[in-house]
Amino acid sequence: MAAQVLDGAAVARQIRSELAERVRSFEKNAGRRPCLRIVLVGDKADSEIYVRSKLKSASDEGIDASLTQLAAQSSIEKVLDLVRTLNADPTVDGILVQSPLPSSLGDGAMLRVFDTIDPAKDVDGFTPVNVGRLVQNRAALVPCTPAGIVQLLDRSRIEIAGRHAVVIGRSDIVGKPIAMLLLHRHATVTICHSRTPDLAATAARADILVSAIGRAGFVRKNFVKAGAVVIDVGINRVTDAAVASALLGEGSLRHESFLKKGSAVVGDVHPEVSAIAGALTPVPGGVGPLTIAMLMHNTLVAAEQRQRR
Ligand code: GUN
Repeated sequence: MAAQVLDGAAVARQIRSELAERVRSFEKNAGRRPCLRIVLVGDKADSEIYVRSKLKSASDEGIDASLTQLAAQSSIEKVLDLVRTLNADPTVDGILVQSPLPSSLGDGAMLRVFDTIDPAKDVDGFTPVNVGRLVQNRAALVPCTPAGIVQLLDRSRIEIAGRHAVVIGRSDIVGKPIAMLLLHRHATVTICHSRTPDLAATAARADILVSAIGRAGFVRKNFVKAGAVVIDVGINRVTDAAVASALLGEGSLRHESFLKKGSAVVGDVHPEVSAIAGALTPVPGGVGPLTIAMLMHNTLVAAEQRQRR
């Protein structure tokens, strides 16, 4: 039997409609809208698409959001100066610097940005102060993708406590924070990465498997225990025709769209997993919309907390 599809887009709509009410009452009480400032350095096509959908979602939600785009050749000092200006601006509630930064800014540039963002405006939850609070289970601003995954599990009535969760990937953005959130919810958590021996066998012990490794179709049938819940965080752009036909299926609507456009976005999880898993998030339409919904949530929380000060 095919796995239940966990409809992230529907859950995201539900979260956003709950938020819309809170945004209206914030505006009524504060006399202003929550305000999000997004910084994009360079013009990487995928990042531009993500940023546009964050801006659109904010405006649908009644959040005042705008983008400052800096040239790819900008120095790290210029980026940090902009962040300091936004920190000092009392009208700004949330600051998001889109990752990755251009490689010309050097290794560690993103960490310097996170060291500079005011933790009270850190809607990504990536500053050292907020990462520390997350580890201590007292974070108000939790990284958006991991927070969205927990919302999806809760709202789909999937039990977390007492279950074995395996996370593939150890990034600061997804792997480490989702492991921490699942641990706080009393799962037994294993984190796998590129040096994990026999990764498939470890993954196949999971009741809840989260893949955030960024490799198209990496998670195959032998990685998945029968009935497991599989959360696919991968957003991988495929341009190779053979890979696309294997992952999208010849003759499918998505394959036809690939043939027209020359590219398609696929997850980390191979479609054959659907025959084994109990539940599965699709790509697109799974975790992606939840990330954006939780960014709106964090912007509102940051605004509410700053207003109370
Ligand atoms: N790039 C990919 N995901 C994210 C995210 O959640 N926040 C930021 N700032 N950049 C990203």
